[in-house]
Amino acid sequence: MKTNKLVLLETKNINKVFHRGKKESQNVLQEINFKIYEGEIVALLGKSGSGKSTLLRVISGLLAPTLGSVVFDGREVNGPNKEMSMVFQSFALFPWLTIYENVAFGLQSLNFPVDIVDDRTRNMINLIGLSGYEKAYPKELSGGMKQRVGFARALAVQPKLLLLDEPFSSLDIFTSHKLRHDLLKLWIEQKINTKSMLLITHSVEEAVMMSDRVVLLDSNPGQISDEYLVTLPREERTKLNTMDLVDQISDALNKQIALAEAA
Ligand SMILES: Nc1ncnc2c1ncn2[C@@H]1O[C@H](COP(=O)(O)OP(=O)(O)O)[C@@H](O)[C@H]1O
Ligand SMILES: [Mg+2]
Repeated sequence: MKTNKLVLLETKNINKVFHRGKKESQNVLQEINFKIYEGEIVALLGKSGSGKSTLLRVISGLLAPTLGSVVFDGREVNGPNKEMSMVFQSFALFPWLTIYENVAFGLQSLNFPVDIVDDRTRNMINLIGLSGYEKAYPKELSGGMKQRVGFARALAVQPKLLLLDEPFSSLDIFTSHKLRHDLLKLWIEQKINTKSMLLITHSVEEAVMMSDRVVLLDSNPGQISDEYLVTLPREERTKLNTMDLVDQISDALNKQIALAEAA
């Protein structure tokens, strides 16, 4: 790990309780404390229903925590922040807008001047491999291309932190592999000025291939149970070289699942 690490985001004792009716409540997140430093990719790994998406929404400012706070770039988060953007598993594109308009959307809502909107939109469309599709509509695109639009839209606003909620989970393995590779390349070569990413996934392999640090979220209530550093340089992360770490993390996850089922 690098020395002199700058903290980009910190969650302080996040708790989230959902109420169902008057009597029933569910404690989804409990005492979540972690940091994201500048220049790293953190993977948040946990089984379905462990509270990963809830935590991401709290971090992004879309959802208020019941207790605790999120500090981003030195300031407390109290609502959506233009320096953080999200990519969703379901793409969440606007079907009535063209690809160009989808990518331009975030910039337009932030009231950037027309020439800047156009410049950044075209640049991002080129970088992410969507050239020629500007006038197409989402329904004309494959899943992989739709998710490229999802990434282009999120990256066009030049966020410091990119929040990824299982963005590769609904793509086939070849398409997801290519998109992961392309995203990492843009980030490593600093073609995008995104400093850090938080990647939610339920794939141990994906977490180990992409991130610098894997944080495990146990469920009921969601709390951080373990953390693993991925120290191997990215270019050396082959299936064989990462097998031991993948096994170690998978064992920890399987233990959680077995304990949850026994409870
Ligand atoms: N808006 C909501 N109201 C009530 N319960 C919710 C809400 N959002 C999520 N939950 C519940 O919180 C738990 C965690 O959900 P979620 O964060 O989506 O998990 P994950 O993304 O890890 O699959 C689930 O039991 C889910 O039903
Ligand atoms: Mg989720």
